[in-house]
Order: sequence, then C-alpha cells, then structure tokens
Amino acid sequence: MAGGALPTALLVACLAAAAAAADDLEQAAMPAEESRVQPMTASNWTLVMEGEWMLKFYAPWCPSCQQTDSEWETFAKNGETLQISVGKIDVIQEPGLSGRFFVTTLPAFFHAKDGIFRRYRGPGIYEDLQNYILEKKWQSVEPLTGWKSPASLTMSGMAGLFSISGKIWVSIKFKE
Ligand SMILES: *[C@@H]1O[C@H](CO)[C@@H](O)[C@H](O)[C@H]1NC(C)=O
Repeated sequence: MAGGALPTALLVACLAAAAAAADDLEQAAMPAEESRVQPMTASNWTLVMEGEWMLKFYAPWCPSCQQTDSEWETFAKNGETLQISVGKIDVIQEPGLSGRFFVTTLPAFFHAKDGIFRRYRGPGIYEDLQNYILEKKWQSVEPLTGWKSPASLTMSGMAGLFSISGKIWVSIKFKE
C-alpha cells in the first residue's frame, strides 16, 4: 500500500455546527443508478497519470461537496463523449492524495492530462466544464508543479484544514 505503515487514528473535529450537514445528507441520497464517477485511491492512482481526467476531491460530510454530486454524475455520464475519465477522491480516506495537491478547500476540482494537473476553479460544473474540456480552456491555466515527486507524499503528522462554506473543519492524522 502506498503510504506505508501508517496511522490508523483519524480524528475529525468539527469546529462549527454540524446540524446543517445532516439535512444535506438526506438530499444527497441518490437513486441507485450506475455511477460513471470512478472512486480513486492511492492504489490505483497511477491510472490518473494517463489520458485525460477530471477529478473531484471531497469529504463525505461536506455539504457543499454533496451539492455538486448530481452535476458531477451528469458530467461523468458525458465523459465518454468528451473522451475523459471522471473520478472522485475522498480526502478522509486518501489523505496522501489530497495532501499532495494541498487541497484545503472542498470540494476541489482538478483537470489532468497525461500526468499534468491543473486546478479547475469553475465557475460552474456541468456546462462550464464541458466547454473547458471541448475548447481546451485548460491550456491557458498554469499547471501545478511538484506533485510528481513521491517525496511530496509526506504523511507523518499530516494535518489538513478544510474550509467548507465558511465553516472550518479540521482533520488530523496521528502517527502511531
Ligand atoms: C480504484 O480503486 C477503488 C477501490 O478499490 C475502486 O473502487 C475503483 O473502482 C478503482 N478505480 C478504477 C478506475 O479502477
């Protein structure tokens, strides 16, 4: 397993009221339709290095992430036409991958083309993103650097601060 013998304890502390999140969870329950969004983990991350991808980093308890779920699914259904793979990364399950991208805001979207990553900052998801791919708008965005080095996968004592719709969430991973 990439990441090695790592910590097991994961503490998620919520510094704000979580009640709102519970409401959003109900809405997020989607019909059991086959999803075209591929969950990516550290073990199959190498697949992302080839071809063209759009990736969403999210946390299961993040309301603003859930709000993008159905649009992300719709976008993914169009993936074949756009010749693009669509994936998602749970930052709680995969702290190493999110740490590599210095993801601090959720949800966070990235475009990947043959291993070159760019942050996608919107404005929208479905239509805007289709144009972004079709018109290759990503070409005018500065690619990320430094992600490639395995050394950037430093896991020990990793802590992440996520800001979600104005609320601050903290996740801390402890070293054993
Ligand atoms: C990557 O691995 C996860 C967990 O095993 C799996 O659910 C997912 O389908 C895999 N994705 C691809 C594209 O193989």
